[in-house]
Amino acid sequence: MRSDANFAGPMADPVPGPRAAEPNRGVSPGPPYPGEDVSRETPAPMDDAPIGQGGQPSATAVGRRGEALPRPERTRVFVVANQKGGVGKTTTTVNVAASLALHGARVLVIDLDPQGNASTALGIDHHAEVPSIYDVLIESKSLSEIVQPVPDVEGLFCAPATIDLAGAEIELVSLVARESRLSRAIESYEQPLDYILIDCPPSLGLLTVNALVAGAEVLIPIQCEYYALEGLGQLLRNVELVRGHLNPKLHVSTILLTMYDGRTRLASQVAEEVRSHFTNEVLRTSIPRSVRISEAPSYGQTVLTYDPNSSGSLSYLEAAKEIALRGVDVNYTGQHAPAINPQEQQHISEGTQ
Ligand SMILES: Nc1ncnc2c1ncn2[C@@H]1O[C@H](COP(=O)(O)OP(=O)(O)O)[C@@H](O)[C@H]1O
Ligand SMILES: [Mg+2]
Repeated sequence: MRSDANFAGPMADPVPGPRAAEPNRGVSPGPPYPGEDVSRETPAPMDDAPIGQGGQPSATAVGRRGEALPRPERTRVFVVANQKGGVGKTTTTVNVAASLALHGARVLVIDLDPQGNASTALGIDHHAEVPSIYDVLIESKSLSEIVQPVPDVEGLFCAPATIDLAGAEIELVSLVARESRLSRAIESYEQPLDYILIDCPPSLGLLTVNALVAGAEVLIPIQCEYYALEGLGQLLRNVELVRGHLNPKLHVSTILLTMYDGRTRLASQVAEEVRSHFTNEVLRTSIPRSVRISEAPSYGQTVLTYDPNSSGSLSYLEAAKEIALRGVDVNYTGQHAPAINPQEQQHISEGTQ
């Protein structure tokens, strides 16, 4: 894992090699099906919240003007976790990763969900025989033996998951250093990287614990719906446990509101409640519900390449920009106070378990 300070600098700065290209390089030139126009936003689909209602992204979002984003001095490792399924973990992982890469960062997505949805969305082959993160965790292979470059997005890489990973929760139990196998693999990975994003399964088992031990920042996607905060107390307690015993660097740095539909009062109420609990962690940008976002994975693409001008694409670019800027905030010390105070945590745990 890269940790030298020489890599600091604006992402879009000219650097030797292919990273010096335009931020939009790598965007696939045409629609997935000949004749099908995907360059426009879906015309008024029922579930496509118009841009501006879902958050603050605007037509001037980053990426289209080549705006320079700062690159971190050290590799920032994000654990994208929420034990609820279907809240947007995978979607957030692949689209934030692609957004950062399109700005010249070198980004690795580690697919830690046996379903392999992140691998699919990035167009990465992950049938049973493909060397995968299972081999790293269980067979002690090195990450460099399994990482694949993502087609279409330069600077983006993926450590795929295959169905083998489904057995890993059980197999890990009897292995030495079962909680820190991913962490060790990342530490001995020598490729220079600005960001690593780990897509977790919807559970708090040993796979997620491996991610929490390996990362420093937890990114929690929260779907703006009725039971949004349910189970969050349990995730936060696990983060505290791992921080106390295994990984003192770990903290919840980022919360992203997903599938936001500004036309419903419920979504804005949920957003308000989450923001009141997590004042500093919630990104200003929220991700609107968008047909384009949900269509992209079936073409093996992120929304950034599938429909670069869609509201979903612009909002993920904006979210990634916030993440990049927060990483260089002068007040950012890497040593964070608990994400919420104990009283609030009590409230969340009681109210949502
Ligand atoms: N902003 C969004 N708008 C529309 N559909 C979305 C959005 N985010 C995610 N989805 C869809 O919701 C489903 C669950 O998202 P996913 O990222 O797979 O969740 P998780 O990884 O937490 O299980 C997927 O079908 C995905 O395409
Ligand atoms: Mg997922």
